[in-house]
Amino acid sequence: MNELTLFPYGISILEIIYVVSSVLFILGLKKLSHPLTARRGNILAAVGMGLAIVATILFHKKDGEAIGNIPWIIAAIVAGTIIGWVIAVRVKMTAMPQLVSFFNGMGGAAAALISMMEFPHVHSDLIAAHGMANGQVLAILLGLVIGSVSWAGSMIAFGKLDGWIGDLRVKSMKYVNVGILLVITGMVIYVMTRNVQHASELNHWIYIIFAVAVVYGVLFVMPIGGADMPVVISLLNSFTGVAAAMGGFLYNNQSMLTGGILVGSAGTILTILMCRAMNRSLLNVIVGVFGGGGRTGIDTAGTVKEITLSDAAVLLSYSKKVVIVPGYGLAVAQAQHICHELDKLLDQKGVEVKYAIHPVAGRMPGHMNVLLAEADVPYEQLIESDEINPDLPGTDVVMVIGANDVVNPAAEDDPSSPIYGMPIVKAREARNIIVMKRGMGKGYAAIENLLFFDDKTRMLFGDAKTSLQNLVNEVKNL
Ligand code: TAP
Repeated sequence: MNELTLFPYGISILEIIYVVSSVLFILGLKKLSHPLTARRGNILAAVGMGLAIVATILFHKKDGEAIGNIPWIIAAIVAGTIIGWVIAVRVKMTAMPQLVSFFNGMGGAAAALISMMEFPHVHSDLIAAHGMANGQVLAILLGLVIGSVSWAGSMIAFGKLDGWIGDLRVKSMKYVNVGILLVITGMVIYVMTRNVQHASELNHWIYIIFAVAVVYGVLFVMPIGGADMPVVISLLNSFTGVAAAMGGFLYNNQSMLTGGILVGSAGTILTILMCRAMNRSLLNVIVGVFGGGGRTGIDTAGTVKEITLSDAAVLLSYSKKVVIVPGYGLAVAQAQHICHELDKLLDQKGVEVKYAIHPVAGRMPGHMNVLLAEADVPYEQLIESDEINPDLPGTDVVMVIGANDVVNPAAEDDPSSPIYGMPIVKAREARNIIVMKRGMGKGYAAIENLLFFDDKTRMLFGDAKTSLQNLVNEVKNL
């Protein structure tokens, strides 16, 4: 395929560059696993991708011919780069899951388009030798189905997270979905067992399979609750990776293959980790009812006690150990910087301050890590919830800021609760609990939280940023 062969054993320059870019993807992914190195990881992977694109344009040859339409390709790259850059710079942190979903959908669409374009061009020699049941046709059809499902599903997930598509729960939906899957499998088998000379004779089937896969993608995501969307996005992300890997097979492109496999496996691992963090199986996420719009749980739970700013300031300043539990409300209020100011003030007073990071706090994986890293909170201060839980009985104050579901004791106490079994930050085990939120609003799972009615809990009502600013002033004046 590539004619610029400079090395022994027929290894071409392009293949060497693909290996280099694959190594950069792997190193980038490795660095993404730690907040301190994540930025560098992103850059490394982007360099790898840039290298693979430039090398493909310069060196790739098909049947001895170089790539054509260079101006169009460059124009598309420039347009895509500008659009992507502007969207990424402007997006609010809280809208990040939608953006990830949207970008993921674009990957799925690209994989599906590759399959649609390449199907009519399957070599007739290959068909003459092996019939339609050959590896190339299989890669094309799998790329088409998986890419289309990922595109359609991601667009629905995007709409749901953005709030303009609601949940659609019909009991028999899962049977319909299984039925559609069987139909798709049947069509793939049908195409692969046809006796034709040119694949283009079966072109219409490609469009039918595409349409049915899109319907499946929509119906697959529609019933899933809003709170479960990150798990679904991660799953769809792994689909896109697999679809892209099919393109890698098709073009004999090592870089595309590695990139696709990495995305596919990373997405699968993330999906499994998120399910574990919520103590639920993937099947339960897909057919379950946890999340936005679910049941409302306990309605009356007693009275709540409030705390004044000055009392809160005294309590915090004279504590030895304080643990902050950040949640979605902290992100909405954009109170991370002022929160860090408070923890530095307390530190100067000799108080040990740590942050309890719950894996699904906020609205996207790693949300709290990213948010607090933005405010330069040292990474050593961020402790995973299961690691910090044993320390909480010896903690003077747990300060819950804009978090709700991730500290809800119903996860441990109430088997009828939709979040039962989800590991939580065991805030109620601390000596004192201060909860900062605007009112008695519920969290994403839309259920009551008995922690707010606990004897040891006192509420500091108000927007997190304003309350924290006032608290900082009080602590300074002590
Ligand atoms: P939530 O349970 O969603 O609770 C957030 C709380 O913040 C609300 O109860 C709200 O109460 C308060 N709040 C909102 N705006 C505020 C503001 N400006 N100032 C102060 N408080 C404010 O958050 P969480 O504890 O972080 O839990 C996350 C939930 O989202 C879990 O159910 C999780 O499964 C789900 N989820 C997670 C992800 C990932 S992967 N992280 C993605 C999607 C969904 P008030 O209205 O009374 O202020």
